Amino acid sequence: MFYNNPFSGISELVSPIMMQLFLITMVALVAAGTLIDIIHKKNVKYFFQNARKAKKNAKVQLTTSKRASVILKTVAHDIATTAELGRGKRRVAHVLGMYGTIIFWAASAFMIFAFPSAGIETPSSLTMAWHIGAIMTCLGGYWFWFFLRVDVSAEANPWYRIIQADLFVLALLACATFGLAWSFTQSSGMQNLSYIFLVLFIVANLVLFGGVYWSKFAHMFYKPGAAIQKNLAEADGSRDNLPPPAEAPEQFGLGIKREEPKHY
Ligand code: HEM
Repeated sequence: MFYNNPFSGISELVSPIMMQLFLITMVALVAAGTLIDIIHKKNVKYFFQNARKAKKNAKVQLTTSKRASVILKTVAHDIATTAELGRGKRRVAHVLGMYGTIIFWAASAFMIFAFPSAGIETPSSLTMAWHIGAIMTCLGGYWFWFFLRVDVSAEANPWYRIIQADLFVLALLACATFGLAWSFTQSSGMQNLSYIFLVLFIVANLVLFGGVYWSKFAHMFYKPGAAIQKNLAEADGSRDNLPPPAEAPEQFGLGIKREEPKHY
């Protein structure tokens, strides 16, 4: 299975051009969904208004090189390691799922554009990357879904309670799971079953990329922007228009140690 390029395996059924058009349509759906979300929520408008207001309160004028260094540090730390999730399971699960998804998507695009037909042999590093990316997505995603989700871990709801906010993680998991099942059944010669998983894989992709407006998909664009703005506001002293930190030491009493704080 790990050496199988499932896209070239169906090139006689679905032409490479069709597969490439499908991928381009998915990218267009993400762009359209995010744009409509921005227009509807007005979040980007508010974000820039706030950034302009904060700039007026700046205590230090940042030079271009200082700004570049703050942005680079944010990318390398806050964004690349999702530092906002703190130390612990949430962050490990997220990093696993995030890099898994990036590898899975990048390998899919390479396979579809560079090795779409059965005649050209796909490098094993690429087919391995596709499968490992999907497995990492499943590990991080299912760990999050079954054990770490706030409604399950802190609010004692059962794991099978599904709400609209779960659309993103569930569609992402469906893509990775059905993708793996499709490749496994195809490489094992279970042709009819592989067609069923192919259809499920296509439907999962349509839901994931077509549902951007209704899901949390766009957080992967908003979060990095917000992290960069926050760190720039800290570096120039404007602190996002917040008051300065209190000088008194943090005293919460012994009660804070009684139970791990997780009721957020
Ligand atoms: C390919 C990129 C990414 C993928 C696939 C991804 C995936 C996910 C998933 C599946 C969730 C759970 C959603 C839910 O609550 O149902 C999530 C939550 C989250 N993501 Fe991402 N993400 C990506 C990029 C990012 C980036 C770049 C950041 C920050 C810089 C980020 C920060 C967060 C945070 C703070 C949460 C909330 C986690 C929690 O409630 O435990 N994500 N992400």
